[in-house]
Amino acid sequence: MQPIISVQNLSKTYPSGFQALKGINLDIQPGEIFALLGPNGAGKTTLISIICGIVNPGDGRVFADGLDIVTQYREARQRIGLVPQELSVPIFETVWDTLKFSRGLSGKAMDAAYLEQLLRDLSLWDKRHNKIMTLSGGMKRRVLIAKALAHQPRILFLDEPTAGVDVELRRDMWQMIRGLRESGVTIILTTHYIEEAEDMADRIGVINKGELVLVEEKAALMKKLGKKQLTLQLTQPLAEIPPALANFPLALAQNGEQLMYTYDEQNEKVRITDLLRQLGALNIEFRDLNTSQSSLEDIFVSLVEEK
Ligand SMILES: Nc1ncnc2c1ncn2[C@@H]1O[C@H](COP(=O)(O)OP(=O)(O)O)[C@@H](O)[C@H]1O
Ligand SMILES: [Mg+2]
Repeated sequence: MQPIISVQNLSKTYPSGFQALKGINLDIQPGEIFALLGPNGAGKTTLISIICGIVNPGDGRVFADGLDIVTQYREARQRIGLVPQELSVPIFETVWDTLKFSRGLSGKAMDAAYLEQLLRDLSLWDKRHNKIMTLSGGMKRRVLIAKALAHQPRILFLDEPTAGVDVELRRDMWQMIRGLRESGVTIILTTHYIEEAEDMADRIGVINKGELVLVEEKAALMKKLGKKQLTLQLTQPLAEIPPALANFPLALAQNGEQLMYTYDEQNEKVRITDLLRQLGALNIEFRDLNTSQSSLEDIFVSLVEEK
């Protein structure tokens, strides 16, 4: 299948001399939800802005639906909707006029029924004749989404869509995004809310200091990099790990009351039975045990720290 977005060897140096992107290669498949994760300043907005034709690319090429975003700018742009990071809406316009204008910009014929449905889906229909300046912050954000969708793009970019958004709106937004995906729209979002990526994305890319350090199916990523931890609550605290247990990856916590065994499901022979047997032989008793699995957040932090 032809990727719907193809980024090839993309680098970007701003006029200030700062290199914001370094040799990015990334293909996005039609219909997926792709989350781009990265700390502040990693280059997420720069990458999205280049794909959407707002920032000039440096070296490299970008295709949207097979169209070169530089030489076939208008056709490429018609396929793309962007919900920008910054709240930038024409405050003196009404909601309805803004949508009509956005649709017109793309060159598509007016479709009042579609725009009505869009506003209804975003709970903005009642506000269609209001000037945008009279709307709350959450509503302004929904107007931005409506604007991005006014021309029925096949690809939707959302740059930190839920930064500073209340929980309820966030939930509504995710529901809407899922609905869009079901209708065949490809979604690319940036976020530093890791739960969001964990919850929503099919694939995750991690960007750090202008480099794409990893791109992986979410499930595979969790499996590959996720660690599990077994914690035993000891009845008697230990001052140190007994030498007989030296060949297990163990650590003590809580003043020696907790014994923790960290293991990697994928790469290591898990020796829990062996460990428990040895503890029995050493008369080390425990009153409780539990296991936990590292979250995407732990994985993300370790990736970004390593680099
Ligand atoms: N117009 C610009 N001129 C110079 N440097 C910029 C410009 N825009 C962004 N940068 C720098 O590029 C880096 C990446 O920025 P950005 O893409 O906004 O990151 P992110 O969206 O991941 O927070 C940052 O260090 C930022 O300061
Ligand atoms: Mg950004």
